[in-house]
Amino acid sequence: MSNNQKNLKSENICNSYKNNGGSSGTGTEQEVVDLKAIKEILDENVITNTGKDTGKENSSLMVILQKAQEAYGYIPREVINAINKRTGIATSNIYGIVTFYDQFTTEKRGKYTIKTCSGTACQVKGGKKSLAAVKKRLGIDVGETTADYQFSVETAGCLGACAIAPAMLVNKQLFGRSVEKRIDPIINEFSEK
Ligand code: FES
Repeated sequence: MSNNQKNLKSENICNSYKNNGGSSGTGTEQEVVDLKAIKEILDENVITNTGKDTGKENSSLMVILQKAQEAYGYIPREVINAINKRTGIATSNIYGIVTFYDQFTTEKRGKYTIKTCSGTACQVKGGKKSLAAVKKRLGIDVGETTADYQFSVETAGCLGACAIAPAMLVNKQLFGRSVEKRIDPIINEFSEK
């Protein structure tokens, strides 16, 4: 990804936040972000922005962002503002890191992320139909989240389980031979949790 592309992505995220106040998914209610967790994270990982590009600030920022991602499930605008306020690191720099690394997301995701495999072995064994069944059952497309924030849907390259294709993950739990007819029972299992 070129710097221009990264900046554009970051800029789009910023504009998106400005336009919708940071709400995401298919839900309609805007959530008030509780800043208690990020305050505790900042207290435990105090960093100082000396204004010098030593790399130290960025590595501390990564730790803070990783903990924030874990605590919130995403990096809300309010959290980025809190980090900026406390550390002095420009929000554009924070956005830059958040949007560069796949481990971070600026959109609130579902409690469970269903990741179907788009690798060749899984596609040959019916992975396409499985994904269609997931989308139909949840009424959302890839990259979207249900209105109740229970499920998000994603696809990924080979999950390393070709022998039991088609494979899919629900968070970290692997499901093999997840053919079309198994989709409903699998989703039912997580709908009640
Ligand atoms: S191609 Fe799907 S697990 Fe390998």
